[in-house]
Amino acid sequence: MKRKVTKAIFPVAGLGTRFLPATKSVPKEIMTLVDRPLIQYAIDEARAAGIKEFIFVTARGKSALEDYFDCAPQLEAELRKKGKTDLLKILKATNMDSGAIAYIRQQKAMGLGHAVWCARRLIGNEPFAVILPDDVIAAERSCLQQMVDAYQETGGNMVAAMEVPADKTNAYGVLDVDQDMGQMVSVKGMVEKPDPDTAPSNLAVIGRYILTPRVMQNINRSKQGAGGEIQLTDAIAQEIENGGGVYGFRFKGQRYDCGSKAGFLQATVAFGLAREDLRGEFSEYLRELMCHAKAAE
Ligand code: UTP
Repeated sequence: MKRKVTKAIFPVAGLGTRFLPATKSVPKEIMTLVDRPLIQYAIDEARAAGIKEFIFVTARGKSALEDYFDCAPQLEAELRKKGKTDLLKILKATNMDSGAIAYIRQQKAMGLGHAVWCARRLIGNEPFAVILPDDVIAAERSCLQQMVDAYQETGGNMVAAMEVPADKTNAYGVLDVDQDMGQMVSVKGMVEKPDPDTAPSNLAVIGRYILTPRVMQNINRSKQGAGGEIQLTDAIAQEIENGGGVYGFRFKGQRYDCGSKAGFLQATVAFGLAREDLRGEFSEYLRELMCHAKAAE
């Protein structure tokens, strides 16, 4: 029986430059798909996977995130007075148990690996999950839940993996596959953002990880990698040499890259259409829009 994964790190200290000027004052993770911020999707996914301790690695200008998970007594009182129980219920889902959430600051955006390392003291000697909230994954069974199940079999280190177009490998960490067992692959190498002609495969790492505490020690010794940043990929790849075992997990679900404008728009449309209360009007509007666009061609 493997140890349970009860801690998750949410690195949210990035600058979010692709969404400037919005991210000048609004953290990317607070931007909303329909009516829920990206971070809420990530928290719900973690909860469903059995995570009990939520560690945010934040930065200056991200206080809206802390406020979001605080309770809002004035607002709640007002809603109660007006008998808006449905809205009160929605608000309640944003509350966290006392002591379940911790915030750590990454003083300088030195890369994802460095952000994860900032949480080392709260992780201690336990396996932990890492969730990047800008990868939103729509799935029947949440992606991290699928991974936690699979981890019971494998132990070691596990990364969510997805086939990407061969010419897009330079936007991802890419796996060098040792054995392909279908949903799971064992990994013999990992490369951060390889050029398409040198990429070992088109199986890319997506923002969900289950890692051993040894990865923290590897980050400690890490030098700057691709793009001058301290890369999480490099620290995980080191575990292959250490014999710690690294697996890629082909999750079931649709991933949206909400760190990019195109991905965010696609997710907005998909999540809007998935909502029963919006579907009718919204799909009618999209149909009209497409008709006008065709007519104008
Ligand atoms: P990204 O590569 O998307 O960077 O980070 P970014 O700064 O958020 O966005 P752009 O590229 O400037 O538009 C992936 C994840 O790693 C976190 C980010 O917050 C995001 O969740 N991150 C990245 C950190 O926490 N610290 C860092 O130094 C870098």
